Amino acid sequence: MTKSIVTKSTLLMIILLAFIACDEQKKKRVLNFPKTDLASENLIPKPVKIIPTENGFALDEFTAIYTSQTGAGFEEVGKFLAEKIKSKTNMNIPVNVAEIDHMETVIYINKSDSTDLAQPEAYQLYITQDSIILNSNSAAGAFRGIQTIRQIIPETSNDTLASNPIWTIPTGKIIDAPQFEYRGAMLDVARHFFSVKDVKKFIDMLAYYKYNVLHLHLTDDQGWRIEIKSWPLLTEVGGLTEVGGESGGFYTQEDYKEIVAYAAEHHMIIVPEVDMPGHTNAASVAYPIFNGNGKKPELYEGTRVGQSTFATRKDTLYSFLDDVIGEIAAMSPGPYFHIGGDESLVTKKNDYIYFVEKVEKIVQKHNKRMIGWDEIGQANINSTSISQFWRHTDYAKDAIKKGMKVIMSPANRAYLDMQYDTLSKHGLHWAAYIPTDSAYNWTPEKYKGISKEHILGIEAPLWSETISNIDELEYLAFPRAIGYAELSWTTEENRDWENYKVRLANQAPFLDRMNVKYYASPLIDWKKSKYTYKEIKKD
Ligand code: ACM
Repeated sequence: MTKSIVTKSTLLMIILLAFIACDEQKKKRVLNFPKTDLASENLIPKPVKIIPTENGFALDEFTAIYTSQTGAGFEEVGKFLAEKIKSKTNMNIPVNVAEIDHMETVIYINKSDSTDLAQPEAYQLYITQDSIILNSNSAAGAFRGIQTIRQIIPETSNDTLASNPIWTIPTGKIIDAPQFEYRGAMLDVARHFFSVKDVKKFIDMLAYYKYNVLHLHLTDDQGWRIEIKSWPLLTEVGGLTEVGGESGGFYTQEDYKEIVAYAAEHHMIIVPEVDMPGHTNAASVAYPIFNGNGKKPELYEGTRVGQSTFATRKDTLYSFLDDVIGEIAAMSPGPYFHIGGDESLVTKKNDYIYFVEKVEKIVQKHNKRMIGWDEIGQANINSTSISQFWRHTDYAKDAIKKGMKVIMSPANRAYLDMQYDTLSKHGLHWAAYIPTDSAYNWTPEKYKGISKEHILGIEAPLWSETISNIDELEYLAFPRAIGYAELSWTTEENRDWENYKVRLANQAPFLDRMNVKYYASPLIDWKKSKYTYKEIKKD
C-alpha cells in the first residue's frame, strides 16, 4: 500500500468521495442497522447536548481517519484514536493515508475556528452514516472529543449483518465543553511508592474520562520520591523507606520527565507537590540542617502526621528550596507548583505564615502559580495562588477574600482513600465512609457556601497509607474517580444519580478490558463483560 500524507486540497476531495462512495451493498448494510439512540449511550462524563438521528455509522476495515494538517497536535490525536480502535477492535485504521480505493467511511478530526468552540477543550461531533466529523479549535479539545468516540464504539461488532465485522456507532450530534478548567486526581507516591508503569496506567484511565490533571504528592515524612540533582541525599537517603518498612523508591529526573511526557500525550499536566514545612521528615533525615522540630530525625515508616517541620527562619532553607523548586519546575510544563502546607502542627503560626509567603515568591520566580492545601489561606499571599480546600472552610474562604481560586477536594466527599463502607479492604475513614453514591451525590459548585465563580475545579486525592500496589490503588480509585470526572465536567442540571448509575454499570466491559481491579459496589448493577478478541483479555 502506498502511503502518502494527504494535502489539504486532496483531503476535501477524499471526504467528498467518502460521502458518495458507498457501494450498494454497503448502503444496504447501513439501512439494515437497527435503530440507534446516541442519547442513550453510556457516556461519562455526560456531554452538554446530544441530538440523536437514529442511524448508524459503520466503523469497519473500510474506515479511515483524517486530521487537520495545520492544527498543532491534531495528527497525533488521530493516531491516538487509531491506536485505541486497534486495541478495542483489532482493526488497523489508517491515519492521513491517501489510500482510498476501498474506503467507505471517514473520521475527520478538524481544526475549526468557529466561535462556538471558543471555550477551552470544547468540541463538537457530527456523526452521519458516512462520516464522523470532530471539530475543535485545539488539539486538547479534539483529544476530549476522541474519548467520546472511544466510548460510543460498541464493545462487540454486529458481524451477523455483514461479511466483515462492523462496529455500529449511533448517528447524531454532540456539543460539549467542560464546566471546570481543572479536573484532577492526586496520587500519593510518598507513603507508598508507585512505579512509572503504574502511574501511566492511572493516566490512561483518567484520560478516558477527560481528566486533565494528575497531581503527584512527591514528598512526605515517609519518603522523598523525586531526584534533585543539587541535593542528591534527598532520594539517596530520603527515598529508602515507605509506610510499613517496604522498599521505598524514587523517580529519577528521567522517570519524572517520562511521566510528564506521557501525561502531555494525553493532554494532561502533572502538578508536582513538595509538601512543606510539615510532612518533611524524609528531607530532614537527608539534610538535618533544615530540621526544625528539635528532635533527631530518623527514617519513619508509620502513618502519624504533624510531627515534622522545616526550620522556617533559616535563610539557607530558602536557597535549598530555590534549588528544589527550580529543578522540578524546569521539568514541569504545567502552570502550577504545589507546596503542600497542610498539617504543619509543630510549626509556630508566625513561622508558618513567614514560610508560605517566602515560598510563594520562589514559586513565582520559577514562573509557576502556587497551589497549597487550604491552610495557606492564613498567609498574606497573592490572588494568583490557589487554595486546595480539603478540610477548613474558613481558610478556603480567607483565600477567596484574597481573590484566590479554590480547588474543591473536601475529604468527606472527594478523598479516594476513604473506605466505601465498614467492609472495605483498604482505606481510612477519619473523614467519612464514601460509598459510590455519596461520592457522586453532592454539588461542588456550591459546597459549604463556596460559589462556582471562585472554583478552579475539582480534584480527588488518593493518599496511600493503606495501599501499596496498582490493584489496591484501583480498588479505591474506581469507580469513584469516574464520578468525580462527571462532577468536574458536567454541569449540575445535567447530572442525575439514577441516570449516572446505569452509565457507570456499563463501564464494566471497559474496566475489565483494561484489567482494572475496581470495587464492584453493590449499589451498581454491573454489566457483564464481553470480549470480542481473546488477545485483548490477555493485556
Ligand atoms: C491532607 O489530607 N493532609 C491534605
